[in-house]
This record gives sequence, structure tokens and C-alpha cells, in this order.
Amino acid sequence: MEVVHFAPAQSHLLRTRFAGNDAVNASSAAFRSSGVKKLIYARLSKPAAETLPCVEQLPRVLPLTPPPPPAAEKPLSRVSPSSLQCESGYLVRNERPDNGALKNGTLIAMESKLSAMDYLTNILASKVYDVAYESPLQLATKVSGRWGVNVWLKREDLQPVFSFKLRGAYNMMAKIPKEQLQRGVICSSAGNHAQGVALSAKRLGCNAVIAMPVTTPEIKWRSVERLGATVVLVGDAYDETQAYAKKRAEEEGRTFIPPFDHPDVIIGQGTVGMEIVRQIKSPIEAIFVPVGGGGLIAGIAAYVKRVSPEVKIIGVEPFDANAMALSLHHGQRVMLDHVGGFADGVAVKVVGEETFRLCRELIDGVVLVSRDAICASIKDMFEEKRSILEPAGALALAGAEAYCKYYGLKGANVVALTSGANMNFDRLRMVTELADVGRRREAVLATYMPEELGSFKKFCELVGPMNITEFKYRYSSAKEALVLYRQEMYSCTSTGFHKEQSTLLSFNVL
Ligand SMILES: Cc1ncc(COP(=O)(O)O)c(C=O)c1O
Repeated sequence: MEVVHFAPAQSHLLRTRFAGNDAVNASSAAFRSSGVKKLIYARLSKPAAETLPCVEQLPRVLPLTPPPPPAAEKPLSRVSPSSLQCESGYLVRNERPDNGALKNGTLIAMESKLSAMDYLTNILASKVYDVAYESPLQLATKVSGRWGVNVWLKREDLQPVFSFKLRGAYNMMAKIPKEQLQRGVICSSAGNHAQGVALSAKRLGCNAVIAMPVTTPEIKWRSVERLGATVVLVGDAYDETQAYAKKRAEEEGRTFIPPFDHPDVIIGQGTVGMEIVRQIKSPIEAIFVPVGGGGLIAGIAAYVKRVSPEVKIIGVEPFDANAMALSLHHGQRVMLDHVGGFADGVAVKVVGEETFRLCRELIDGVVLVSRDAICASIKDMFEEKRSILEPAGALALAGAEAYCKYYGLKGANVVALTSGANMNFDRLRMVTELADVGRRREAVLATYMPEELGSFKKFCELVGPMNITEFKYRYSSAKEALVLYRQEMYSCTSTGFHKEQSTLLSFNVL
């Protein structure tokens, strides 16, 4: 686990809890206390994971059989993100259907006539370059040296609207017949998709309405407005905003542009995969792709697995927004009962039907990472290229690091997609604070301290020689105060640390 875990201890004098933000630990604790039966429990130690059979066979990309008539729609199972537990970097494998093709109608709920070959040829013919750049593929020299792996960054954060999203939006919109386009387009989004649609509409000279939740920060809706789109702030939650957009599309004859679940959107995102294959000359071990609804990874996999099937396509999700990992694990789409919003670009409760169908067939699996690890990768990227990524934009880099370390990869070429840079400025403070926790340079701890003479002295004695970098005291009751503090971890030798750790343990580590 990416967490220094202090077990509960005995004394009531000082109860201390690691607050280093690990979704898995927090949620498993919640599970323990709630007594709810887990749907899956897949905690794997490293040695155990290594004995699992390796999926070495190359995925077979067969033309899809025609979809059967649509079955009566079953409601999606609701699951908690914490029902899937594994170590950061462990590959939640995609156990593909045996025959390499899709088995039955439960996987093909969407009327798709596109075969794998159709995806490939459409990607090759895509018009995204009217609006997007061929982004550079750059070697990250510092992290490469540190990990012992050649880490290539596919810089989608350098696109005109600072994310890859304009590729899919433009590809779909450029295919809409002229008369239809004149009636305008509409989408619902709180972020990067909105900007992609707005810029594409500007290029194509059509009218665009962008529905955004009322909670959208002003900086975001203003940048959409600056691109010439009409912004409508509607709905507290994304579902309400989407319902409004779909209704208005029907009423006004506008075309609804979905953020990920449409073949033309997937094809547009697939051009990223085409560029990677063209740009790198040496063999690639794996491409790490951030996953929200799955449009980006489905598009990349549709191209790369067709032309270089030996390259692993690995999705990366936050522990608390793991809809694709859980859907692959269950062999069908599931709905998260809640979703963590830190990496807001990928905070999706349900992956798409078409994206899931493609991922189920093509990708190798998904790795999960913590919020602290994402922050550490934002810092790495800043040190490497002086660029600031948004959390979803740094997700793939965090996943690549966790995977390479977990499996002890050395000397290989791996690609991490830096997918976006639309960072809320006021989030930066939190990111810098958590970055050192992600690197395990600091631990954030919370403790209750008795409100009595000598408590602080006692606390200092317990902490001993370890550097405290932050200390916050809050009066909580006449009996005890809540204290939050950060401790440098590299200031102690490991033996010294363990000695101190055990001292803390004797004072009721929570
Ligand atoms: C920056 C960023 N990265 C990754 C994603 C995930 O893309 P997808 O929803 O296609 O999986 C998004 C989605 O909006 C995004 O904005």
C-alpha cells in the first residue's frame, strides 16, 4: 500500500491516526466498521500477485459480430469504489472473453456497426488536425533516471484548450451534415469537453450551447464563453445538467455531443494512439491512459492494438473513481454509488457502453492510484517540464510510476499520457501539500491531545528527533484537543523511524 499504516494502539492519552490520504485504507476501515459485505475483496500482496498467470497472449481483434436485437435494459448494479481493493500499481487485469470477441448481448447494448477495422480506418482519416496539434512525445529524463525506465510523455496538455478533448468533439462535429449543423450543437460538461465543443463550434461556424452545473467555477465557464459558446448554468449535479441538455437538443433540433460514448468521439481520441505509434521508434512496453468514461483509452486501444498488439494498453483511475476497473472486474458495466471528485476530469460514475465494449475487448487492465500519488506526479511534471497538470492530467504518470515500481520494470519504454492542464489555481496549495505525502517524504498525522498541563511536552517527547513541519491545534472539548501535524520521514534513518513509530504506537495510534 502507499501508506504508512499505524495500527490502533492502547493508551487513551494520545490517539494518533495516519491521515496520509489513502482511499483504500480509509474505505476498508469504513467497511470494517459498517459490517457491509464486500462485493469483491481482492487485496493482493506483491508475491501473491506475481504468481498469478500472466496474460501474455496478444489480444485478438476480430470484426464484431452484428449486435443482437436490444435486450430489455437492466438497471446497472451499484457498487462502492472501495469494493475493489488492491495495491497501487497492481494491474487489475481485464480477463477478456475466451474467444476474443464479445459473447452476448449484455456486452453489446449499443447499436454499433463499427468493427475494429472501421475504427482503424476512421482514425487514419480523421480530420482532427483542422483544430488539434500533433502533440509532442517527450522523454522525461529526470523520472526516467529515477525509475530506471524510459518514460515518454505524450503532451496532450499542450493542445489549444489544454486537453485532448477537442479531438473527439471536433471529429464528431465535422461529420454532421451541414443542414443539421446549422441547427446548432449542445453538450453538458463542467470542464474540458465544454471547451473542446466550444472551440470546434467556433472553427465550424456553428452555434453551440454548453450546459454546465451551477457549481462550475467562474474561471471555467468564462473561458467557454470566450470561445463564443452560450453557457447555461443549470442543475446542482451533473445528471440534471445532462438531462437539460438532452431535452433542449430534442426541442431545438440541436445535435447532442456526448463527452465519450460515441464512435466518432472515440475515433477522434484514437488519433492520439496513431501519433504515439508514429512518434516512437523503439518497442513500447505499455501506454498508460487516464480513464474517465473511457473514450480516450478506447480510441487509443482501437488503433494501437490493431497495429502493434504487443503494446500493453493500461488504464489508470483514482482509487475512489474506479468505474472502469470495477466494470472490467465484474465483466459488465456497474455504477459507482459515489465518486471522488479530486481528479474531476475522470470523476465518472458509469463508463460508456461503447467505450466499455471496446475496453473489454482490447485493453490489458487498469491500475489504481491515490490522490497523494497524483499530487506527487504533478510535482514531478513541474520539475521535469515546468508545466502544471490538472489532477486527471497527471493520473497516467502516477499510474505508470506505480506499475513500474510494483512490477520492478527496468529499461523498458513506457508512455504516459499527460491529458490536461486545466488546473484550478486555488487547488495548487493542496497539491503542493500532498505532493510530499505522495512521495512518502512526509506523513500527515492527526491526534487527540488531553487538555491538561504537560500534554504538549509529552507530545514532543513522543515525537522525539523527527522533524515536525506543520502543527495545527484546534480546541475541541474541555477534555481533549484535536491536533494535526506533519512529520518529515526522510529525516530519520529507517531504524530510528521504526523506533519512534513504535513509541507513537504505544500512545494509541488511531
Ligand atoms: C484531463 C482529462 N483526462 C482524462 C479524461 C478522461 O477521458 P475519458 O472520459 O475519455 O476517459 C478527461 C475527460 O474529460 C480529462 O478531461
